[in-house]
Amino acid sequence: MYILGIETSCDETSAAVVENGNSVLANETATSLSFHKKYGGVIPEIASRMQLETIAQVTDSALRVSGLKPKDIKGIAVTDRPGLPGSLLVGVSFAKSLSLSMDVPFLGIDHLQSHIYSGLLDIDRPRFPFIALIVSGGHTSLFFVKDFDCMEVLGQTHDDAAGEAFDKVAKILGLGYPGGPAIEKLSAKGNPRQIRFKCSETKGALDFSFSGIKTAVLYMVKNKQLSLKEKADIAASFQESLINVLVSKSWLACEMKKCRTLVIGGGVAANQALRDRFMFEAGDKGVRLYFPERKYCTDNAAMVAGLGYHLLKKGYRSNLYLSAKFN
Ligand code: KG4
Ligand code: ZN
Repeated sequence: MYILGIETSCDETSAAVVENGNSVLANETATSLSFHKKYGGVIPEIASRMQLETIAQVTDSALRVSGLKPKDIKGIAVTDRPGLPGSLLVGVSFAKSLSLSMDVPFLGIDHLQSHIYSGLLDIDRPRFPFIALIVSGGHTSLFFVKDFDCMEVLGQTHDDAAGEAFDKVAKILGLGYPGGPAIEKLSAKGNPRQIRFKCSETKGALDFSFSGIKTAVLYMVKNKQLSLKEKADIAASFQESLINVLVSKSWLACEMKKCRTLVIGGGVAANQALRDRFMFEAGDKGVRLYFPERKYCTDNAAMVAGLGYHLLKKGYRSNLYLSAKFN
């Protein structure tokens, strides 16, 4: 069964065609990233206007790349929560009209839950239950996944998300937007053990808090002229501290739920130091890891179509009253 996925939760406009929730036949993405760079972050108005301009073209292109005809598509899955209001509305409205004109069902999909699915595309899926860590620009959460329609939140961030912390620290260091890839690149030249940044304690053992570490970086660089080496040491130490917390809380979640499978997703999952650390420790912990391919770490419609397939197959449907939910 072929499902068309549509994703417009932030600055990307993505459409994908996925077969049986597994084989990605097409995943076409347009991004307005270059237009946001000079502002140091995503400008919602620019993002949604560009999505309106590109969504038809991107969807058309996904269908063409898949080699299918519109009549082959049996359902549409679209991100409807959480995200930028104007951006989500573009995708949701487009999916509704396509569903009407193609006479196929459609379903609104949770963006975080679809990020979990990004590590399960094009592979043999793990058995339920498993633990999932989602580290994106807007969220940092641990889930206990019992089924595709039964995901329990075990913990989440109280303040900044992991990706947000990367973006803010990059801004403080004058590295530009998006911060994750820039920090990762600079970190390669620095000593990750030069400075010990501590993440704030959280009430829940599986919750996160990253705003303290960002403030610590801010005070460290305030009114100082730093050399490239000093900046690289700060970037590497910040990255290391953040990874320490993500890794240790993920193992704790696996222990608490007696799970031996961990699925990791979200933009920060593209970070090689994070991937290396998880892979290095997974053997000792006896945990099997599932990482998305890099192209599926950041926002994409393939993960939406993949998860949508299972939920549509279970009988879930949205109707024309569906609206975008912003958080
Ligand atoms: O999942 P995503 O594309 O969008 C949201 O749903 O938020 O994640 C974007 C975030 C940004 O904060 C970006 O800085 C971060 O993912 N990111 C990275 C890397 N690539 C993207 N963070 C660390 N290392 C990377 N290589
Ligand atoms: Zn995302």
